[in-house]
Amino acid sequence: MNQEIKKRTKWFMDARFGMFIHWGLYAIPACGEWMMSEKEMPVKEYEKYFYMFDPVDFNPRQWAKLAKKAGMKYAVLTAKHHDGFCLFDSALTDYKATNTKAGRDLVREFLDAFREEEIKTGLYFSIIDWHHPDFPKYGDRQHPMRNCEAYRDEKINFDRYLEYMHGQVKELVTGYGKLDILWFDFSYDDMCGEKWKATELIKMVRKYQPDVIIDNRLEGGGGKYGSIATENPLIYSGDFASPEQIIPPCGVRGEKGELIPWELCATMNNHWGYCNFDYEYKPAEMLIRKLVECVSKGGNMLLNVGPDARGRIPEQSVKILEEIGAWMEKNSESIYGCGISDIPKPEWGRYTQKNNTVYAHVYEAPLGALPLYGIGPDEPERIFYLADGSEMKRGEAWNTAMFTETAFVTFGEVAAYTYPLPDKTDTVLKIELKKK
Ligand code: GLC
Repeated sequence: MNQEIKKRTKWFMDARFGMFIHWGLYAIPACGEWMMSEKEMPVKEYEKYFYMFDPVDFNPRQWAKLAKKAGMKYAVLTAKHHDGFCLFDSALTDYKATNTKAGRDLVREFLDAFREEEIKTGLYFSIIDWHHPDFPKYGDRQHPMRNCEAYRDEKINFDRYLEYMHGQVKELVTGYGKLDILWFDFSYDDMCGEKWKATELIKMVRKYQPDVIIDNRLEGGGGKYGSIATENPLIYSGDFASPEQIIPPCGVRGEKGELIPWELCATMNNHWGYCNFDYEYKPAEMLIRKLVECVSKGGNMLLNVGPDARGRIPEQSVKILEEIGAWMEKNSESIYGCGISDIPKPEWGRYTQKNNTVYAHVYEAPLGALPLYGIGPDEPERIFYLADGSEMKRGEAWNTAMFTETAFVTFGEVAAYTYPLPDKTDTVLKIELKKK
C-alpha cells in the first residue's frame, strides 16, 4: 500500500462508523434496489416509478441528526444506483429527481444537511446503468434484459455510455463542493478496470478532488479486493477495500502483512433499498458488537438505512440507531481512532486499542474476578469503567494467586463474588498501561 493512501485515509480510519443510505425509485416497489433486474423489468415498465416518485417526507436534516446521534462520522448516499435514476440534477439525463414530483436536487440537499452537522459526506455512484441505451444488455450477468431475445443482436456504443458515465462523475466532483468519499459500484467479470476507462476516470476525479477517498470497486467488488492489497496498487485500486455483508476474519492485510484500510458495508435487515416485508432487523446489541469487531480488526463499519418512498428512514432503523447512539455516547472513545490491539482477543469479548490505552469490551460476565488476558498484574497504570469514569477495583485475591501472569479486576467489591455486568451489551473497561 502506498503512503498516499495511508495519508488520505487517516481521518476515515479514525472515524470508524458511517451511515450508508440506499434510496431511489426502488423504494416504491419496496423489495430492494435490485428489483428491476430480479423481475427482468423493461425500462418502460420500471419508469412508472419515476412518475410516482413523490418523497413528501424527505428531510435530510432529520437523517443527519439521526446519524450524528448514532455516533456516525460520515455518510454515503446513492446518487445513482444500478437502475440509472439520479437523485442529482444531471445535465446529461432527464431521468433525475429534478424531473419528478420532488422537483429538486436531492443530493445537494443531502450534502448541505450532513455538512451542517459536521458529518463527512460521500456519494455512491453506480458504474452499471440499466437505464442507459448503450449499456450491454443481452447476455450481461445482471441486466434486466439479459434474457430478452430482442436485444440479442442489438448494437450498442459502449464508448458513448462511458462518456455519459464519466460525464456524470465529473458533474458530481465539480458541482457539489468538497466530497469526502466516492463510492463506485461495481465491477464484475471483464467489466472491470480499464473497461470503465478507470485510469482516465480517476485522473479526472483526482484533478478536482485530490483528497477524496475512493473505494476499490472500479477494480474489485464486495468479494474481491483487487490490487489495493498488493505491493503495486493500480491507479484505480481505490483507497480502501469494501467487504460486503462479511467481516473479514482477520481484517485486511497486504502481501507484506501491512494493514489495508477497509470498510464493512452491511444492511440492518437483509436489503439495502427499502423493503416493506423485511423485518429481519439485527438488534442494536449485535450491531454494536459487530462495530467493535470491525475496529478490533482494523476496519470501519458503514451501516445501511433504506428510506421509504416518502423519504423516511424506517422506524425500526431509527430505534436501532438511537440504541447504538446511547451506547456510543458513553463508549465511543473505544471506537474512534482505535484499532487492532497488541494483545490477542480475550475469550470474554474483544480488545480495541489506541496508543497505550487498551479498551476491554466485556460481553460475558466472569465467575469471580475477570482475568485481563495478556495483561500482566503490574502493567495497568489505571483501570476505569469507560461509561462513567469510575475506577475499577482490582480482582487479585487468594484464589487468583496461582495466576501470576494475569491482571484481574472485579465488577463489585469482593473478588471471589460474581456480579452482573453493568452493560449487558458491552461493558467497556479503559485500561491505561504503564509506559514501557
Ligand atoms: C452491491 C449491490 C448493491 C449495493 C451494494 C452495497 O454490490 O449491487 O445493490 O448497493 O453492493 O455495497
